[in-house]
Amino acid sequence: MNPILQASLPALRRDEFASDFRWGCSTSSYQIEGATGEDGRGESIWDRFCAQPGRIRDCSSGAVACDHYHRWPQDLDLAQSLGVNAYRFSIAWPRVLPQGRGAVNAAGLDFYERLVDGMLTRGLQPWATLYHWDLPQVLQEQGGWKSRETVAAFLEFTEAVTRRLGDRVKHWITHNEPWCSCFMGYWEGVHAPGETSLQSALQACHHVLLSHGQALPIIRANSAGAQVGITLSLHPILPASDSAADAAAVQRHDGSRNRWFLDPLYGRGYPADMLEMLGELAPRTQAGDLAQIASPMDFLGVNYYFPEIVADAPGLGPVQTRVVERQGVERTAFGWEVSPEGLRDLLSRLQRDYAPEQIFITENGSTYEDILLPDGRVNDAQRLSYLARHLAAMREAIALGVPVRGYFAWSLLDNFEWAEGYARRFGLAYVDYATQARILKASGHWYREFLQR
Ligand code: FCB
Repeated sequence: MNPILQASLPALRRDEFASDFRWGCSTSSYQIEGATGEDGRGESIWDRFCAQPGRIRDCSSGAVACDHYHRWPQDLDLAQSLGVNAYRFSIAWPRVLPQGRGAVNAAGLDFYERLVDGMLTRGLQPWATLYHWDLPQVLQEQGGWKSRETVAAFLEFTEAVTRRLGDRVKHWITHNEPWCSCFMGYWEGVHAPGETSLQSALQACHHVLLSHGQALPIIRANSAGAQVGITLSLHPILPASDSAADAAAVQRHDGSRNRWFLDPLYGRGYPADMLEMLGELAPRTQAGDLAQIASPMDFLGVNYYFPEIVADAPGLGPVQTRVVERQGVERTAFGWEVSPEGLRDLLSRLQRDYAPEQIFITENGSTYEDILLPDGRVNDAQRLSYLARHLAAMREAIALGVPVRGYFAWSLLDNFEWAEGYARRFGLAYVDYATQARILKASGHWYREFLQR
């Protein structure tokens, strides 16, 4: 490693963390599997979305992606070679229930069974996410998450998957990032299904949270001793200035990005200030919904990428805030601010305000313009530094008493980055899409050395 870079990295040792700490990497079905038309898989909303011109920056789709559906043994070997003891993956609903509900596609479940057995043989603890955004298209045609019927369909999916895998998978995440699946999908229109109504997004989000709460007892019944949680995308929210108006903007923005999910999950219902602001747009709920959403979980999954700096913006959107770019700060190629201290502060805040029993960082990572050098190396010094500094920030949070029990790097492989297509690489391993070769980047080598030192 470059000596200057080496000198600027925090000193870190694996044995500073608990011996049962979970070290892993994260992936998701649509982003890596490919094989979208094989073995009876049904269409997902992402297949449909990608087929619409202008939706995906490079006009690509997950049809082939990393071809993980065929190359999974090699990918699990790669994960194992890093020295991780856990592996997070997601299960494509349309592979299991091609029609969304009803008939189970045995070949779909067989695939995940082979995958899970492959993890167990390699000493990788399986961490399964049930919903990482690939809703069956047939359900979308009946309203998708806007419809309360989709909650019932999700429970059928949960039942089928956990009945088959619950003896071997003991760590379950119901949903990945409801903010993204609902607000980017149903309001901003930049993710599938590409709708643009805030009211729809709020209703969809209510159903997603409800489906989480109702799935918990099913998972526990089919997977004795399982640990179950949800993964949220969370951000520290900071004011653009020290004005009272910006302080109030922080409050509102935090209400939409963080509290809207955390408050109901931790038994406080939807935040009163937000409900008041939303008025008629607030989701329709039924008696008992909020109690189900607040069913106790075993852990909170936190995906952390960047903080948001906000200013008061009267008249702008329902929350009347504007996200401001701090000047002179480090950013990834996505433009996301690099802030390891943001991770520490977010974790402390979660502990202070919600006191989850356990926290797992289920995603954290960065994208840069990686170059495959003629000698076959990818020298991603910036990602390496990002990773090391975020681990150091996590160590600080643990020292402050936050019960962080595991860390999953996003991602094992470069993959299909949703609306950005293949333009954004987040992997510890570079994927040469022309040959499907995987090449461990310098950051991957560093993670391996850290884990095996
Ligand atoms: C998160 C998603 C994940 C990946 C990363 C970069 O929001 O959960 O699938 O796209 O961002």
